[in-house]
Formats: sequence, structure tokens, C-alpha cells
Amino acid sequence: MASIAGETDTQPMQPSPASVLELAIDLARRAGAIILEGVSRPLDVSYKGTEANDPVTDVDKRSEAAIAEGIRARFPDHRILSEEGTTGGDNAHWLWIVDPLDGTINYAHRLPFCCVSIGVEHEGRIVAGAVYNVLADELFAATRGGGATLNGAPIHPSATEELRRALITAAVGPWEAAGRRFERARGLAPHVQAIRELGSAALELCYVAAGRIDGMGGATLNAWDVAAGMLILREAGGQITDPYGDPFVVDGKHMVASNGRLHGALMARLHDHSSEVPPRLEQPATAAQPEQPATPAPTTPTSA
Ligand code: IPD
Ligand code: CA
Ligand code: CA
Repeated sequence: MASIAGETDTQPMQPSPASVLELAIDLARRAGAIILEGVSRPLDVSYKGTEANDPVTDVDKRSEAAIAEGIRARFPDHRILSEEGTTGGDNAHWLWIVDPLDGTINYAHRLPFCCVSIGVEHEGRIVAGAVYNVLADELFAATRGGGATLNGAPIHPSATEELRRALITAAVGPWEAAGRRFERARGLAPHVQAIRELGSAALELCYVAAGRIDGMGGATLNAWDVAAGMLILREAGGQITDPYGDPFVVDGKHMVASNGRLHGALMARLHDHSSEVPPRLEQPATAAQPEQPATPAPTTPTSA
């Protein structure tokens, strides 16, 4: 088999990053076919926990089952960490980190911005990643040290050097915890071209990698949201750190990502709580009372 070099007397040969990427791409496309099929029929939606902001569809589950089946068929002992709970073998060296459908809320509302994300970790490092934007038929991929591609062609982040020309996205997580993050975004807003919340962190990282978005802030993310995208962004030449500029790790939860050129300025603005916001427009006398003034955002990483 091309993807596994064989075994020696003493130690099993390890698959190469290129061979695990090949499988990741194949499985992302198989999952993509399941996602595509769900676009034109009613979905079976249920909710994880008690909150309406954490839905899961039958498509998420079917996508996950197909990916896990493909991993087990080729690498029965590899471990699996997947959003909907599927697990795998007990090989300490290899871990497949899977989001079978990133952007579930978009998908359930028929908004065409979602993807499949598969990152492969070897001995604590992400060595391969595939993110498939099913509805646009765009496949982002990378191996560690091998560069990043979109549908096979190399990609690079934008050349934007000024924050005021930058399009920034925010993955702020569930509303109930996001208040302070919205305050941060409000502080940043006057200094950038625009801020968007697109709803698929994995795909947004790839968009930064491909120069479509200049920077991104993310909070309360899970490993499956970022495992593939963080490798693709780094391999494309972009930067991803924690909110204090230290290297981002896959289970780091909070991050800042950018084209690299803007990273320092973006982080400085996110930490600058004295940022001026535009003055409130004059209200007619009959207008509703304005909201209470916002409290300043704290400086702890958990509020990033
Ligand atoms: C979500 C998306 C979103 C991010 C959330 C994630 P899901 O993943 O990546 O952009 O802000 O924190 O949970 O639930 O659609 O797979
Ligand atoms: Ca996700
Ligand atoms: Ca998901």
C-alpha cells in the first residue's frame, strides 16, 4: 500500500504526512457529498445541551460516521477526536482531529458558508490538514513544511499593511459568553475597514491563508475548529498566536490570526481598551433612551 511504507522487525513504519493528507482529502470529499445531499431536503435538527445555539443535524452525524469509517479502514489504531463524539484507536502517535461540519448554524439556515475540517496530529504536531468548502467546491490543504494550496494551487495571505484597509472576522462563540468580545470588536471597528462574523472558524482561517480576509479573532474555539486551518494558515505564510502573541496551540481556545503584516497592530488594538468609538449620532427628542454605557473590557485571556 502506497500510504504505509511497511514494517521493520523493530518498529512499524509511519505513514508520511503526504499520505495522511491524501486520505484526509478523500474523506473530506466523501463527507462533502453527504453535506451536499442535505442541502436540498429537510434536516433533522436536534440540540446539544439545552441551548438553541448549539444545534446538530443528521448531516453532521452522517458526515462524522463516514470520516471515522474511512480512518478506521486505513489506520485502525489511530486515535480520533471528533466534534460529535466518535473516537478511534489507541495509537499514542497519531490523532485525527475532525469537524464533520463546521458552520452548522449556517448550514441549518441554508447559508452557504460551511466546511469539513480534518487535521492530523503526529506526536503533538499537526502535520496535515484539509478543509473542504463543499458548496464552493474549494479544497484547502497543507502538510507541515510543504506549503498550502487551494484546489492544488499555492496560496498566500494578503499584502494588506494598514489596519484601516483590513477586513477582519470574529469567531466570538456563544452569545451568552460573548459580551466582552463584542466590546472588543466595537473598540476595533473604527480602526479597520470592516468586521464580519461568518460562522465557520475553520473556513475563515483558510480565507486568511488565501488572502480573502486580512485577519481574524477567535474565542472559545475547540481543537476541531482550528486543527486543519491553523496549519493551512501557517503554511501559507500567515500568523496565528494566542491573544498575547505566543504561539497558538491546537487546544488554546483563544487566538488571533492574520496575514502576518498586520499581526502586531491587530493585537495592539485588541488590547487597547481606550480605543475611541465614533460619537453617538444626535437623536431626535422622541427617540428611545440609549443603552447603558458599556463597561470597559477586561484584560484577561479568557475574555479574548
Ligand atoms: C462553530 C464555528 C463558529 C465558531 C464557533 C464554533 P460549529 O463550529 O466554527 O465560527 O464561532 O465557536 O463552535 O458548531 O459550526 O461546528
Ligand atoms: Ca466547528
Ligand atoms: Ca461542527
